Amino acid sequence: MRQDLTSRKRLCIQHLQALNEISLALGEKDRYTQAHGHRVALYAMRLARRLGFSPEDIRNVGIGGLFHDVGKLALSDCIFTNRETCLSSDLQQEVRCHPLIGAALLKNIDFLEPVVDFVLFHHEREDGNGYPFGLKDKEIPPGAKIVSIADCFDAVTTDRPYQKGQSVASAYEILREGCRRYFCEEYVETFIEEIEENGIIQDTGPDLLLADELVLSAAGCSAM
Ligand SMILES: [Fe+2]
Repeated sequence: MRQDLTSRKRLCIQHLQALNEISLALGEKDRYTQAHGHRVALYAMRLARRLGFSPEDIRNVGIGGLFHDVGKLALSDCIFTNRETCLSSDLQQEVRCHPLIGAALLKNIDFLEPVVDFVLFHHEREDGNGYPFGLKDKEIPPGAKIVSIADCFDAVTTDRPYQKGQSVASAYEILREGCRRYFCEEYVETFIEEIEENGIIQDTGPDLLLADELVLSAAGCSAM
């Protein structure tokens, strides 16, 4: 029994190291995406907690937020160096593959199985106009809806290589305008309540401490 636990722990740590390598590789390609993943993880966990999710579900939503864009590792370098607001249609098609690639990277890690759908479906939209599958409403898992709102809020409020971050009020407006078409209305209002009460995340830094804690905890190697 003790031996089983030790070998499982060793396997989990190897998986964690592999995920950290993936995150680091993505950070080399695009520093914004790496820091964005950490902030999305924190926002997503705050929303899940406020919605009354279980501790295990909160942690899984956090891991989904952390790795939601990990599939961008496979995208062409020119997508990250592009300074235009619009990509060519070929490059747009390539970007639309990143949820599939991310899910494929995570799906063989047994303890991350509950997280795969949050990565796979984080660009699906309430009205069915999202990608990669065009799922709608109740077909989209709650964890993916949460990651999607956290992703949008952080993308709007932070500086990107091609655009300056907007105000929190503008982000609320964008989220509210997107209710029913893009986002779950109840989740959006709960998210806004959370931000009003506890504020925005200023800077989580590029370190991988959060990734370590979340993934080790999911693997049963530590308590969060
Ligand atoms: Fe994404």
